[in-house]
Amino acid sequence: MTEATPIDETAAGFSERYGRAPVGVWSAPGRVNLIGEHTDYNDGFVFPFAIDQRAVVALGARDDRVVRVSSTFTPEAVEIHLDDLTPESLDGWSAYPLGVAWALGQFGADLSTVPGVDLHISSSVPVGAGLSSSAAIESSIALALDDHWNLGLDRPTLAKVGQLAENRVVGAPTGILDQSASLLSHADAAVFLDCRSLDAEVIPLGLVADGLSILVIDTNVTHAHATGGYAARRASCESGAKTLGVESLRDVHVGDLDRAATVLDEETFRRVRHIVSENQRVLDTVRTLREHGAGAIGPLLDASHVSMRDDFEITVPEIDLAVSTAQAHGAIGARMTGGGFGGSAIALVIDALVPVIEREVRAAFAEQGYRAPTTFVVRPSEGARRDA
Ligand code: GLA
Repeated sequence: MTEATPIDETAAGFSERYGRAPVGVWSAPGRVNLIGEHTDYNDGFVFPFAIDQRAVVALGARDDRVVRVSSTFTPEAVEIHLDDLTPESLDGWSAYPLGVAWALGQFGADLSTVPGVDLHISSSVPVGAGLSSSAAIESSIALALDDHWNLGLDRPTLAKVGQLAENRVVGAPTGILDQSASLLSHADAAVFLDCRSLDAEVIPLGLVADGLSILVIDTNVTHAHATGGYAARRASCESGAKTLGVESLRDVHVGDLDRAATVLDEETFRRVRHIVSENQRVLDTVRTLREHGAGAIGPLLDASHVSMRDDFEITVPEIDLAVSTAQAHGAIGARMTGGGFGGSAIALVIDALVPVIEREVRAAFAEQGYRAPTTFVVRPSEGARRDA
């Protein structure tokens, strides 16, 4: 007997919940950002890839205008009439899927004529790990509803839909990185995205051919972007851009930093220096990858981490220990990935060293009395798709 896939299981969960089979099943992945952190809302560059953990949604048609959503995360199901969908009417976990339904209406979908749906969601993307479990849900729902309702929105627009749901409904002032990665990725490749023009280029990583792995070290220190530090960093970037007289920090280049130091306060200068140098590192990473392969990008990953730790100050001691331990035991490069204040580090590692680094990181955490990390290799995977 073959094992049930997450697709089969989610379809079966739908049938159990709603007493009939779904009309289709869609899925979308979480992401690892290889490099380019906090650059997205500064109109800059990012370079993420989709991971092989995914959110899965089974959808069933209805004759009326009610949307019901259930999931494997909580026993509670939420029900709302499409006429009542507003950002204010939504909260809790269902704000992600239902927020996407609302946001589709903000991007031209006529929600006054579409029929209701039943939705059942499951996900293997760890929550709070900095791997975009929320974007995985948003992107799977956006694609499912776009298909089912025949809206004809393209993927970059669906990414904006997910971002708007996150910003207006969930209340996190995040950029376009996560949803773009979830919707635009291809297997064994990363997405080079210009967050100003939204031009995206899929660039092969060649990890398998080069015998390399990306190891995720989830510190199990959970983060929440709706509060605190993330918004404060965004505000610093906006204030730095204003003082420098530019529309966004994308318009500041490494050669402008000396002048910036003379007009910005010390802390804002370091925030700006992170963004400006990180944009350059993304460009350098893409060029290095093309010319010399993934095995050559290690120093750029390491430098990105130092910049996030010392200039942008978004790492935590557990993340720094994960990175330094991986580096000390032979990682080609390592850095925190995602918004920060907890979450995960990634290490670029030759395949044979994966178990060594996993062991050493675990030992280093135990020695410090930190909670044990969760480590796993991620495969750069295909973006959102219809599975059944
Ligand atoms: C979170 C946000 C993204 C991005 C990253 C940092 O993942 O959702 O928009 O800003 O942090 O690069």
